[in-house]
Order: sequence, then C-alpha cells, then structure tokens
Amino acid sequence: MQWVSLLLLAGLCSLSRAQYDDDPHWWFQYLRSQQSTYYDPYDPYPYPYEPSEPYPYGVEEGPAYAYGSLPPPEPRDCPQECDCPPNFPTAMYCDNRNLKYLPFVPSRMKYVYFQNNQITSIQEGVFDNATGLLWVALHGNQITSDKVGRKVFSKLRHLERLYLDHNNLTRMPGPLPRSLRELHLDHNQISRVPNNALEGLENLTALYLHHNEIQEVGSSMRGLRSLILLDLSYNHLRRVPDGLPSALEQLYLEHNNVYTVPDSYFRGSPKLLYVRLSHNSLTNNGLATNSFNASSLLELDLSYNQLQKIPPVNTNLENLYLQGNRINEFSISSFCTVVDVMNFSKLQVLRLDGNEIQRSAMPVDAPLCLRLASLIEI
Ligand SMILES: *[C@@H]1O[C@H](CO)[C@@H](O)[C@H](O)[C@H]1NC(C)=O
Ligand SMILES: *[C@@H]1O[C@H](CO)[C@@H](O)[C@H](O)[C@H]1NC(C)=O
Ligand SMILES: *[C@@H]1O[C@H](CO)[C@@H](O)[C@H](O)[C@H]1NC(C)=O
Ligand SMILES: *[C@@H]1O[C@H](CO)[C@@H](O)[C@H](O)[C@H]1NC(C)=O
Ligand SMILES: *[C@@H]1O[C@H](CO)[C@@H](O)[C@H](O)[C@H]1NC(C)=O
Repeated sequence: MQWVSLLLLAGLCSLSRAQYDDDPHWWFQYLRSQQSTYYDPYDPYPYPYEPSEPYPYGVEEGPAYAYGSLPPPEPRDCPQECDCPPNFPTAMYCDNRNLKYLPFVPSRMKYVYFQNNQITSIQEGVFDNATGLLWVALHGNQITSDKVGRKVFSKLRHLERLYLDHNNLTRMPGPLPRSLRELHLDHNQISRVPNNALEGLENLTALYLHHNEIQEVGSSMRGLRSLILLDLSYNHLRRVPDGLPSALEQLYLEHNNVYTVPDSYFRGSPKLLYVRLSHNSLTNNGLATNSFNASSLLELDLSYNQLQKIPPVNTNLENLYLQGNRINEFSISSFCTVVDVMNFSKLQVLRLDGNEIQRSAMPVDAPLCLRLASLIEI
C-alpha cells in the first residue's frame, strides 16, 4: 500500500499543468486510478506516509520506479486524498475525510479546503509551491501551535483568507502574509496577542478572535488600518484594546471581564457603528463622562454588567441595551444635555429591564428628549 503511494507521489513530481490542460478525460482517468490503485476497504484513510518517516515529497523518481512491475501512474497532480474538480482547476477539496496530515499543495491552486479533518500540524514546506494561494481553509482540525512550521505562510504573498478557527492553537500564528483580508482564529486556546503579531496587515478587514483565552491584546490592533470588524468576544480581557483601528465599524467584546473604558475611547474610530460589551464587569467607577459618547455609534450593548447609572451617550445613538444591570435611576441627562425643538435623542430602543428601577422613575421630560423611542422596556 505504502510504496504504491510513494510511487504515485514520485510520478506527481514531474507533472506539469500542460500535461492535462488539453485532456478533457484526465478527470476520469484520475477517478479510475483512485479506484483501481488506492481503494482499500481495510484502510479507510490511506495516507502516503507515517509521521515518523521523512516527508516524502522530495522522493526521487528513480528509486520509486525501481519497485517496478506497475505501469507509471496517470499524469495528474491532485493528491490522492483530495478532489480537484476539472471545471475549477484552481480549487482543491480535501475537507471532511479524516486526514491526519496535510498533503502537498500543487502550484496551480488558489483555493484549498482542508476543514473538518484530524490534522494536527502544518508542516514546513507544504505550501511552498502554491505561492498563488488566495484562500486556505484549515478550520475544524486539531492543529497545535508547536506544530505550525515557522515559515509555512511566508511565501504566500497573495493569501487573502486564512481559516484556522476551531483548532488547538495556543499562540498567534505568524509571521502572517501582509496581503490577508480575513483572518479566522476563533475557537482556539490563544492566550495573548503580542503587540507585533498583526504588524503590517494593512488590508485586513475582519479579524475573528472570539472564543479564545485571550487576556491581553496590548496595542496590536491599533495599526490595522483597514480593519472593519473586530471580534474579541468570549475571552478573558480585563481591558479594552490599547487603541482601536481608525476604520473600525463593528467591535465585539461581549463575555469578557472588562471593567473600564477610558474617556473618549471610541473617538479614534469615527466610523464605529456597533459596540457590544454585554456580560463584562463594567461599573460606573470604571467609566469616564464620555466613555460612550461617540457620535457615530448607532448601537451600544452594555447589558449584564454592574452599572448603577445610565452612562452618557451621544444623541445619534439608536439602540441602547442596559438590561441586567443594577441601574436605580433614570437620568435623562445621559441622553440629552439640552432639550428643545432641535436638540433631542435619536434613541429608538432602550432596554432597562432587569434593573432596580420602576416605570414611575421615568422623568416627566423623558418624552421630549426620547421622542423617537419606539420601545422603552423597564
Ligand atoms: C514544486 O515546484 C518545483 C519548481 O516548479 C517543481 O520542480 C517541483 O516538482 C514541484 N513539486 C511538486 C511536489 O509539485
Ligand atoms: C485538541 O483539543 C481537543 C478538545 O479539547 C482534544 O480532545 C484534542 O485531544 C486536542 N488535540 C490535540 C492534538 O492536542
Ligand atoms: C492591499 O490591497 C491593495 C489593493 O487591492 C493592493 O494593491 C496591495 O498590494 C495590498 N497590500 C498587500 C500588502 O498585499
Ligand atoms: C457628548 O459629547 C458632545 C460633544 O461631542 C457634547 O456636546 C454632549 O453634551 C455630550 N453628551 C452627553 C450626554 O454628555
Ligand atoms: C441644539 O441644536 C442646534 C441646531 O441643530 C445646534 O446648533 C446646537 O449645537 C444644539 N445644542 C446642543 C447643546 O447640542
């Protein structure tokens, strides 16, 4: 079984794209070769090498052919574990098939899918030929940080999306290609984001780090000048990131231990629309007057904290969630510092249920200030 596979791999090494570019039947040949040569009912996950063996891709043609009685393998470059549909020659599908190791990626590939296997490592060199890769999907595996080659991503100068979520990573991977636009690292066990971990990722627009064990992100987010979405929810953060990206629109920090938000914290992100800070440890002592008074904000979720007063918010805010706190007064000045024909709050939804106030605590001038409110739940 094993030497047959080696033979095939050795054959692969000399294959170039031109060999099947003009051959409409190569796919059928490929399927046939898989069935006749590789199907083994007692070995449901045929894999070309054992972990203890040296990585086989450098195998020379000579010694492999010397085994000899079988004819040379069909010309193709798709690893036997994967599917490479002929009508989509830049994609390789290796997902959901109990793979334990990453197969070598042929150079023509732009989109590779390895999700939902049992892969534990990203071997050095595995992407070395595929320098045109745009998407790499590795989510739903068991990759540990110790087994990620130091230079695995360094040649991928065009990589735009990297899916490493739902793995066993304990550290940020890197160095990462500067071309990245989306980075999925959620559902791992990463405990910190060093200040330089995301350096130079000038095109990164979405960063998913939720459901990790992150305690500290320092100033690592600050320089991400294209970042629009940052999800750090379900971690162990005690502080908000030290500086937010200037293009940020969505910030998710719910389910952490954040107890303080500095004065005017959101003013460095003038496009920010949505902020979620529910299920944290915020008290009014940890807030300044203008912690949440940012004119771009449309939605602010501060539910399930320990606030006793309503923090001042900007008049442009439309949705404010404060349920599950300890609020015991309805301070209209938190919404309107001046009330007249031209000055009023744009708030539409205000949730104050699960606090320590009664409906009767609503001041008489509330309707004037909150004249656009369609739902006030107390
Ligand atoms: C990797 O690329 C080199 C240079 O193009 C080529 O000689 C080699 O056969 C390729 N290896 C594999 C396994 O495709
Ligand atoms: C990855 O984590 C899962 C769940 O915690 C665990 O069952 C598995 O053994 C881990 N795998 C490795 C390779 O550490
Ligand atoms: C970022 O995107 C722009 C525009 O698509 C591109 O020209 C530039 O090379 C990218 N930067 C990096 C580091 O890849
Ligand atoms: C929010 O800040 C603006 C200045 O940007 C200020 O005029 C307004 O009074 C503040 N709102 C509250 C409720 O303090
Ligand atoms: C009240 O509204 C007017 C007109 O929009 C504006 O010029 C003024 O700055 C507002 N005052 C406050 C305190 O927001």
